[in-house]
Amino acid sequence: MLVLGIETSCDETGVALVEGGRRVRSNVLADQQTLHARYGGVVPEVASRAHVDLLHPAVEQACALGGARLSDVDAVAVTIGPGLAGSLLVGVAAAKAYALALDRPLLGVNHLVAHVYANVLDHGTLPLPAVVFVVSGGHTSLLAMDEGGTFRGLGQTIDDAAGEAYDKVARVLGLGYPGGPVVDRLAREGDPAAVRFPRALLDDGSDDFSFSGLKTAVLRHVRAAGPEVNVADVAASFQEAVVDVQISKVVGVAKREGLDTILLGGGVAANSRLRARLAAEAERLGLRLLIPSPALCTDNGAMVACAGSFALERGEHTPLDVGADPNLHIVPGFGRRAPRRAKRRG
Ligand code: KG4
Ligand code: ZN
Repeated sequence: MLVLGIETSCDETGVALVEGGRRVRSNVLADQQTLHARYGGVVPEVASRAHVDLLHPAVEQACALGGARLSDVDAVAVTIGPGLAGSLLVGVAAAKAYALALDRPLLGVNHLVAHVYANVLDHGTLPLPAVVFVVSGGHTSLLAMDEGGTFRGLGQTIDDAAGEAYDKVARVLGLGYPGGPVVDRLAREGDPAAVRFPRALLDDGSDDFSFSGLKTAVLRHVRAAGPEVNVADVAASFQEAVVDVQISKVVGVAKREGLDTILLGGGVAANSRLRARLAAEAERLGLRLLIPSPALCTDNGAMVACAGSFALERGEHTPLDVGADPNLHIVPGFGRRAPRRAKRRG
């Protein structure tokens, strides 16, 4: 089975060919970062237009690199949500056209589910049941996944996603966009104990996250320090606060739910500090930890093809009249943006 995977939910045009659900024949990424960098973040209309220009050449390149013709493709998988409406629409419309022209099944894939399946491409398997932690620019979702692949929502961010916090802090520090990789790199030269930033909801007993107060604390610190600010120390201290909370919540859930496997996914799972510290903690506690290689943590077409292959194996097909759903939930209440909670009174 050769599956074409198309990912256009945000600012990466990703197209891949995956064979048998596991073997990546090609994985093309048409990077839009230089287009968005001067705005300091993703501009949705710029992203949609770029997808229109980049998508078909990326499909041709994926075929050429994968040594296949489009007619060799057995199914077309595409991210149908969550994500930016215009960006998703470009991928979904194109995938429908390919599926129709080739007379092959269409497989609509949830972006968060694709991030989880990226593990299969690197590790060959998805050991279940497991705790699942999807951390990216749009989501911080803690879930349980049962043997049948069904998700149960446990916790999520009540304000900013983890990746959003990295991007905003990078902007405050003048490091450009996207912020995660730069903060990660710079933090290696800094002292993670230099500034004690807040660890929100660390011991609140919930499985939820909050990063907006941390971002504000960084902003205040940078303003107060003025030109004397040690950027590497701030980056390392901010990152340490994020990772402390992430590890505490993920490990806490694994213990409470009696699950000995942890699956990570999403762009922030590429973070070297999170990977190293969680690996050490998992080893100490005898937990199995799977994280995709950094290149498969961030958005790509291969993870979509992989998730689509598993759906195909289960006999699932998506009707050609499916729409893009910017707010598609992985389980009810777990979508791209967490609902803002009303402040408690009294
Ligand atoms: O999964 P992804 O590529 O796109 C979304 O689905 O949002 O995640 C992108 C996010 C960005 O916020 C980026 O700054 C962050 O992942 N990111 C990182 C690292 N690499 C990417 N954050 C922390 N450390 C990294 N090494
Ligand atoms: Zn993503």
